[in-house]
Amino acid sequence: METALKEEISRLTSLGLHRRCAEGDLERVAGLTLEINRLKKKKNAVICAHVYQTPDIILGIGDLVGDSYKLADDCRNAPADIIVFCGVHFMAETAKILNPSKKVYVPSINAGCSLSEAVTGADVRKLKADHPGLPVITYINTSAEVKAESDCIVTSANAEKILRKMYEKHDRVIFIPDRFMGVNLAKALGKTPGEDIILWNGTCIVHEHFDPGLIKVYKQKYPGLVALAHAECPSDLIAAVDFMGGTGDMMRYVENTNASAYLLVTECGFGELARIRFPEKNFIAMCRLCPYMKSITLGSVLALLKDPAPQEVTVPEAIAVRAKRSIEKMFELAA
Ligand code: 13P
Ligand code: SF4
Repeated sequence: METALKEEISRLTSLGLHRRCAEGDLERVAGLTLEINRLKKKKNAVICAHVYQTPDIILGIGDLVGDSYKLADDCRNAPADIIVFCGVHFMAETAKILNPSKKVYVPSINAGCSLSEAVTGADVRKLKADHPGLPVITYINTSAEVKAESDCIVTSANAEKILRKMYEKHDRVIFIPDRFMGVNLAKALGKTPGEDIILWNGTCIVHEHFDPGLIKVYKQKYPGLVALAHAECPSDLIAAVDFMGGTGDMMRYVENTNASAYLLVTECGFGELARIRFPEKNFIAMCRLCPYMKSITLGSVLALLKDPAPQEVTVPEAIAVRAKRSIEKMFELAA
């Protein structure tokens, strides 16, 4: 075995990846990460990896790792010519809008998002016409065209904070497209859905299907269990858990607490990473896979670095300029 491959296996082992690889698979993974990291350096590329990606991507090749907010923020100052986004398309589009002079790529043509697909620019224009004067607060899981029609973008890490600020100036707001997150936020802020907060009917196909009844069963079975759920879950599920937040909030909660066990109600990649980061803690499995996030693999990243052209993310300038304004508003209000 060549020395570089041996060293790569040791590097991945020191990161804890061997605990998430099948017997013998670490060598195959190391061969891919080695080649990707060499090509990345040669092309002056940076790899962003959302926490729903698999640990081989996050730990093996990721340079910037985090939730949607952190990735958008971090890639603004990335010292690279190329951004390879191991996440979904709207995240890469956001990176392109914030870095117009850089080339941005997503290593899969299937990395969409059910929330992003639930609303169009024309839908937002109609909503604004139906509710004149109301600010449009838009979840980052949307297309550039929808962002261009919005007043301010939010992520799960800052939606509550930004909405609070918006309500200082407005009695009513429009929040799109995640209906469940909108209801959860309304509840947290003492607002009435449909009256104080106009919602859209988008849902996340991963988070809408968790069963709240199971949380009660698990809590009885494992006394001391702490349940955490992503804010995209329906409110009957949120009512059954101990903590609601975005992926960044959930990771910090696990890091800063000492429960006997954690139930992570979100996409499975999050739990895989949490298990590696906190090997001394106990996790009970309750997760679902996001087919969009999981359409990216080490193989697809390598193929992209060899022939990037077909997967370049572009945003028409007229849309990008307006979308950037609503994203910058988020950075201002989230600060
Ligand atoms: P976060 O911003 O919490 O990482 O969420 C992104 C997402 O797509 C959740 O499904
Ligand atoms: Fe979209 Fe849901 Fe997948 Fe997140 S988990 S990318 S919201 S479909």
